[in-house]
Amino acid sequence: MEQGFFITLEGTDGSGKSTQMKYLKTFFEQRGFDVVLTREPGGTKISEKIRELILDNENTEMTEKSEALLYAAARAQHVAEVIVPALREGKVVLCDRFVDSSIVYQGGGRDIGTQSIENINDFATGGLRPNLTLWFDLPPEEGLKRVASSGNADRLEKEKIQFHQKVYEGYRELKRKYPQRIKAVDGSQSIEKMRREIEGIVIEKLKEVYGMKLVIAIVNDEDANKLLDRLTENRHRVTKLATTGGFLKAGNTTFLIGTEDDKVDQVMGIIKEKCETRKQVATSPAPVSGTTGVYVPHPIEVNVGGATVFVVDVEKHFKI
Ligand SMILES: Nc1ncnc2c1ncn2[C@@H]1O[C@H](COP(=O)(O)OP(=O)(O)OP(=O)(O)O)[C@@H](O)[C@H]1O
Ligand SMILES: [Mg+2]
Repeated sequence: MEQGFFITLEGTDGSGKSTQMKYLKTFFEQRGFDVVLTREPGGTKISEKIRELILDNENTEMTEKSEALLYAAARAQHVAEVIVPALREGKVVLCDRFVDSSIVYQGGGRDIGTQSIENINDFATGGLRPNLTLWFDLPPEEGLKRVASSGNADRLEKEKIQFHQKVYEGYRELKRKYPQRIKAVDGSQSIEKMRREIEGIVIEKLKEVYGMKLVIAIVNDEDANKLLDRLTENRHRVTKLATTGGFLKAGNTTFLIGTEDDKVDQVMGIIKEKCETRKQVATSPAPVSGTTGVYVPHPIEVNVGGATVFVVDVEKHFKI
């Protein structure tokens, strides 16, 4: 299970990927995240060598199929050596170009076809998908002008403008196909405006991915340790509030368990399995008289196995 956050930056040459990647790195670091910056197809010794082979101006006889397979080979290495290990450690991975680049450059821009490219890349990555892809939407002529004025053009950039136009259309197509994952950023704005727009998109996506439920479980002290072990084994975020006592009744331990929306059932299953000894639960409180009337509190307890459990919908929350 990957716990980190994977962002890819995509767009035609000169659309601002490198520029914005630096800002994104700072954005995450200032908020306490560990960040790994990497690029396609490089990042490891083997894949950097493959990149040199692909971009070498002397390799004019390289076929489109070999180029596509070389990109996928570099990527397989990159995913295994860099991306997946970092995500497993909970890091933010910012990757300059990924599978989408292959789809639009080797698939759409030429004649191999996007489906074959998707297939070989699924094999290469083991189906890994970014949480978010930022597509810098800039007409290719504009990007090429920027790159030409900064004076570093490689073999791909010397190809005809029609090719770049096809690539650009390829990105538009991908955005239509994967609207949840791919977000467009208007690349013709100033660097500062782009930076702010990107931060907004990233914050929304973080909320979506890290949307949480808080499960409060009151269990018998005897069940506490085995419950804690199993929850942490499954990477739920657990705070054990009291080792003896806890609220409601002495002899209870109270847990605060933070988990993703879709993992609440798993948490409930673990509680059912591990908690057996808590027989007595508090009954719902009696009506309360206040100055403006009498209130009948709703029964608030739900029993799961030998525990009392409350599930609270946490306002989409993370550290920003
Ligand atoms: N919003 C912007 N407005 C004007 N110029 C920009 C903007 N963003 C970047 N640039 C300039 O355009 C050039 C290309 O930007 P950058 O290197 O970030 O693009 P890139 O997408 O990484 O390009 P490549 O695909 O070649 O790696 C740089 O000289 C950069 O300073
Ligand atoms: Mg760049």
